Amino acid sequence: MDLLILEKILLSLFAAAVAAIAVSKLRGKKFKLPPGPIPVPIFGNWLQVGDDLNHRNLTDLAKRFGQIFLLRMGQRNLVVVSSPELAKEVLHTQGVEFGSRTRNVVFDIFTGKGQDMVFTVYGEHWRKMRRIMTVPFFTNKVVQQYRQGWEYEADEVVKDVRKNPESATKGTVLRHRLQLMMYNNMFRIMFDRRFESMKDPLFMKLKVLNGERSRLAQSFEYNYGDFIPILRPFLRGYLKACKEVKETRLKLFKDHFVDERKKLAGTRKPENKDGSLKCAMDHILDAQQKGEINEDNVLYVVENINVAAIETTLWSIEWAIAELVNHPEIQNKLRNELDTVLGPGVQVTEPDTQRLPYLQAVIKETLRLRMAIPLLVPHMNLQDAKLGGYDIPAESKILVNAWYLANNPSQWKNPEEFRPERFLEEESKVEANGNDFRYLPFGVGRRSCPGIILALPILGITVGRLVQNFEMMPPPGQSKLDTTEKGGQFSLHILKHSTIVLKPRTS
Ligand code: HEM
Repeated sequence: MDLLILEKILLSLFAAAVAAIAVSKLRGKKFKLPPGPIPVPIFGNWLQVGDDLNHRNLTDLAKRFGQIFLLRMGQRNLVVVSSPELAKEVLHTQGVEFGSRTRNVVFDIFTGKGQDMVFTVYGEHWRKMRRIMTVPFFTNKVVQQYRQGWEYEADEVVKDVRKNPESATKGTVLRHRLQLMMYNNMFRIMFDRRFESMKDPLFMKLKVLNGERSRLAQSFEYNYGDFIPILRPFLRGYLKACKEVKETRLKLFKDHFVDERKKLAGTRKPENKDGSLKCAMDHILDAQQKGEINEDNVLYVVENINVAAIETTLWSIEWAIAELVNHPEIQNKLRNELDTVLGPGVQVTEPDTQRLPYLQAVIKETLRLRMAIPLLVPHMNLQDAKLGGYDIPAESKILVNAWYLANNPSQWKNPEEFRPERFLEEESKVEANGNDFRYLPFGVGRRSCPGIILALPILGITVGRLVQNFEMMPPPGQSKLDTTEKGGQFSLHILKHSTIVLKPRTS
């Protein structure tokens, strides 16, 4: 009995010593760590800062601890960067060193431990996936191949809204219809397919599974198992749910989309001599046939586009509409520009967006104030690194608070105001492609968003057509839409999908 107690005491002392060495290794002379709140054993700063590390809470912490600070979340290091200079260092100058992605138990499930592109570490696999995906998805040729399809989809939204008389009186939750539009925009590119209506059973299944995937990955619920590995057994139920969603979802992609396209490819003439253009999946399947990627990688391409492209663009459209409803004078000014430049009733097309500076300014301002990915997708350094004069231990999660960079009052005039004019006046040189490190809605550098080339024209066409065809207002009895935000691990969207009154303009 006594021996057993002694053994336990010795074991505890040994564990404490190991923990002390680990902490002193980080805090000790060898490492000069960034400032931050003082961590307590086991939990680190977790109990002090809580789970919801959204862009606003991290902005408050930056005001206390500076433009670079460190949080210990259980056993994980989290480094938050909040100045244009340090953002440049992470994303550009030391883009290779900080070009990996953090993984966690949940993302490991959804990405098959990094077999995808978005969440994989920086290296050979990422380079190959990014190269293989560029031609099918991320070039101007793709925009030209599909822009008429996007214009058609926006036109269908306008027609459906006009068909529903309630839209003009009680209002409608426009997001639901726009969601179908975004699925169609992306499924045209991927598979040359579209869904006929919101009741299409396949669309409904996809929507539910993608929604679940997003909810499970963005939730803070699993933090404890991620931060403190010995608690991981308690996550068993959560991880089981993740596995089920992942498997059902990939099977759906395979059975209903990828295999269909394979069958069609079998009947296609070589090099598309029949005149039909290849869709993205044809290119991806070519890469598989050449042995560059395997069947799982093909499915993860579909998974990545489903998570990275559809909701992000949809959230941005939703935010733009909400801001235009809450700022009728801006909405009117935009409508005047469309009427004047294009002529009344002439529907905006992708090439027109280039000669509509106010439309572009409205979109830029939406992406500034309501950034869909306000902390970028978390970066990570595989090796020990240096940043801003501090040591950054290997495998730290690096968050660039892009939202704060674009909303810092010392860098922007009245940043809390929705004022598109800023992008025609004092910020007229600032573009969304990262030419200014204060404004990075798509990131910049190696891991920046390749989808910007598609997202901007889709936003322009959709927002432009809505404003041309409708006067958008809050529902009766409400003077403004509720723009409360909802954040996740790194996403930001509107909390309540707004009901919007859309009064048709005579065409
Ligand atoms: C308004 C819409 C969008 C916004 C605001 C947005 C924003 C972002 C941001 C901030 C990142 C991370 C950058 C970083 O970590 O440094 C990212 C990554 C990515 N985005 Fe987008 N995105 C949008 C639309 C799209 C679309 C339409 C696609 C695809 C068709 C796409 C595909 C990707 C991919 C594949 C990555 C990962 C790149 C990598 O890790 O190498 N995004 N996006």
